[in-house]
Amino acid sequence: MAERRPQVWVSQPLFDDIVAQLGEHFELTTTAEVTRYSSQELTDRLAGLDGALVTLNERIGAAEIALAPRLRVVANVGVGYNNLDIAALSEAGVLASNTPDVLTETTADLGFALLMAAARRVTESERWLREGRWGQWSFKTMLGADIHGATLGILGMGRIGQGIARRGHHGFSMPVIYHNRSRLPEDIEQATGARYVDFEALLAQADHLVVVLPYNAASHHLIDASALARMKPTATLVNIARGGVVDELALVDALVHGRLAAAGLDVYEGEPKVRPELLALRNVALTPHIGSASLATRRAMVQLAVDNLIAALGVGPQAGNPPSAINRMSAARIIGGGKR
Ligand code: 8YV
Repeated sequence: MAERRPQVWVSQPLFDDIVAQLGEHFELTTTAEVTRYSSQELTDRLAGLDGALVTLNERIGAAEIALAPRLRVVANVGVGYNNLDIAALSEAGVLASNTPDVLTETTADLGFALLMAAARRVTESERWLREGRWGQWSFKTMLGADIHGATLGILGMGRIGQGIARRGHHGFSMPVIYHNRSRLPEDIEQATGARYVDFEALLAQADHLVVVLPYNAASHHLIDASALARMKPTATLVNIARGGVVDELALVDALVHGRLAAAGLDVYEGEPKVRPELLALRNVALTPHIGSASLATRRAMVQLAVDNLIAALGVGPQAGNPPSAINRMSAARIIGGGKR
């Protein structure tokens, strides 16, 4: 009898030429249309699979893998993986992987773009111009806040946070301060020009604050009404992490009442729905979760996810050693296959 080929599924349309690599080794099912899955639909889709390649849209935990006893890997396309219940996957012997590094610089670029757009009122100006409201050049039109020389605060000094710090320090002569779970080694602080401060000092001293933390129970609403009240009223807040790190209603309130000058957001608590209160505000720059969305980077992310999946299913030069596993399993377990 012919040997059974592992079954793998790709949840969203990605790049066909890269995804096709999976078909060389496995029985591959792809998805032609951008799709929103219910939990039940995911459970049905994952049933009987050996591997799945998913995006942040797919929330996968114990319920979704209940009918997938053969499942050995869930490869996430994205560095953030709050869509995956890692404890449940580990418990079930399923390896989870993500796509760090390849998106660092692209995402830092977008963070900086949002900072500049919000502080210098770029998107607000464009809307105003397009609405035909530019009657005559005037000296005080769209006065904003400087980027260069201002104090840049970074909350979450992982790879992307460090990329933002480098941009501020080397490109815009900004004093950079950061707060992180733990202080970084001195050589990294030197290379990024960043100084460690406690959370209070970060809030109080930053002229512009960029949020780049992983989202989890501890970071939920870390930037709430009280944190916003401790920031400078002239400050800009940028969120490129996950919407849930910032209490959006508190943010709206601060922006409406002039307790914060501006905000730049790429992520939202209920995305893809954006609160009407935010949409109505003039002093926010809004983008639809495009932090990593350059063509080259999105391709690199898919390639890394494919590499992870192939390696986790015991094939190729990295067999048994997926390049970016989150919950690294023993190679025997990854390659072993069969029933859990
Ligand atoms: C991805 C992101 O595009 O990497 C992340 O965490 O938020 C984005 O870069 C997204 O995760 C796609 O699944």
